[in-house]
Amino acid sequence: MKITTKINLITTAWIICVLLAVNAVVFFSFMKITVNMEDGELFQKADYLIKQINKDDSQEVIKEKLTPYLTNQSFIRIVQPNSEIANEVTNDPHLASKIKPQFAREKGTARRTIRLKHGEEQIAIVRVPIKSTGQIVGTLEFGEKLVGLETGKDLLLSILAFCTILGAIISLLGGRWLSNLIMRPISNMINTMEDIENSGIPKKIVIQYETKDELQKMAETFNRMIGRLEANLEKQRQFISDASHELKTPLTVIKSYADLLLRRGLKNEEVTHDAIESIHSEATRIQKMTERFLDLADTESGELLEAKLINLVSLCENLFKQLKSAYKREIILHLKSQEPSIMVFVDEMKLKQAMIILIDNAIKYSMDQIDVYLEEEEKFTIITVKDYGIGIPAAEIQNVFERFYRVDKARSRETGGTGLGLSIAKNIMKQHQGEIIVKSTEGVGTEVELFIPKMKAGKEMFLE
Ligand SMILES: Nc1ncnc2c1ncn2[C@@H]1O[C@H](COP(=O)(O)OP(=O)(O)OP(=O)(O)O)[C@@H](O)[C@H]1O
Ligand SMILES: [Mg+2]
Repeated sequence: MKITTKINLITTAWIICVLLAVNAVVFFSFMKITVNMEDGELFQKADYLIKQINKDDSQEVIKEKLTPYLTNQSFIRIVQPNSEIANEVTNDPHLASKIKPQFAREKGTARRTIRLKHGEEQIAIVRVPIKSTGQIVGTLEFGEKLVGLETGKDLLLSILAFCTILGAIISLLGGRWLSNLIMRPISNMINTMEDIENSGIPKKIVIQYETKDELQKMAETFNRMIGRLEANLEKQRQFISDASHELKTPLTVIKSYADLLLRRGLKNEEVTHDAIESIHSEATRIQKMTERFLDLADTESGELLEAKLINLVSLCENLFKQLKSAYKREIILHLKSQEPSIMVFVDEMKLKQAMIILIDNAIKYSMDQIDVYLEEEEKFTIITVKDYGIGIPAAEIQNVFERFYRVDKARSRETGGTGLGLSIAKNIMKQHQGEIIVKSTEGVGTEVELFIPKMKAGKEMFLE
């Protein structure tokens, strides 16, 4: 069933229920109020009549006094304590014969329903005790057919039925209009999504009216999502083009040396040796590059980190020991506080990877010692890698996180850089909801800071 039909049926059913409940309240209130009014009137008459009747009045006199109070279809009786009629006047003997006389010590009302061929009639009866010298000597019984009530009731029922039907029709029409109004933007979205599905090209929803409602919010969210998708696709396209471009140079070198070997054969030993050496070095470069591509892809996926609590001081000590012996360079660890351990909640492998990237840069782009500082602040633990090398020109600093960006391409070829290291380090810090900042002065040195957020009490705060 279409959602518009569903909304329509549900609202109509609900409105009918509400109308029926309101009708019931109106109907029963009307009945109660009308009957109470009738009773009140009869009591008034009865009280007035009792005052008129004297103890010594003859039957005829009493009848004469009672008769003017008769209404259209009614009776007035005086009932003795033995429930026998002492006196009665009526203009509807049939009605009077249907109601049994009843002696009553207290004022009271009663209701009788008389079934007739064409329906039923409601009779209101009031009984008022007649007192004489403190004694109850009889009851004045007043009975009257509730003609007004019957016609009023029928009229009210017809009006209420009419209103209910009218309400249901208005609700059906209104509901249809309303659900169409609500569904229009949703239909728009469905059309756009179907277009995307068929063409495979991301497309945004056109927001025609600024309705500022949930549907507009939904369309905006969808558009934002499509925007991100487009940006990612563009990033991917750019990456493929950059990566192909980067791979092209070493592959061309390999191919030309391989061609050379094919043409000249292995006769000239010197040329052969040079060619194989170049092929080997370019192949190593490609191998390094592909490893970097994989690292980049790995840190870019929204994959969960395998975070745990580790001691940063021992991680640095172990790592530097390995790097020192591998690169034969001085790497000095400085602790700002005297704490033997600094605990951080991180993915150990990834943090290590980020640190290696920074130290590798420091090794490549400087000759002197490398200083690493560990420092704890209120919200972050900060790792600073400082070198005293060539530095980065101020205008270039903002670009170093871009993929494949190298300040000095020629020099980077010597050092074997792919220009992906800092992009990967930045991704790793992003995964940890941290930050990476580069400060550098050309010819003086470079300082790169990693900000690792501290854990919120007992909470793993930064896993994506
Ligand atoms: N400590 C540093 N001193 C001077 N220049 C640096 C330093 N770190 C980075 N750079 C500059 O920033 C560029 C980008 O660095 P990044 O680490 O991303 O790439 P790379 O070192 O060239 O290659 P890769 O790290 O992928 O092997 C480098 O090419 C270099 O020009
Ligand atoms: Mg690097």
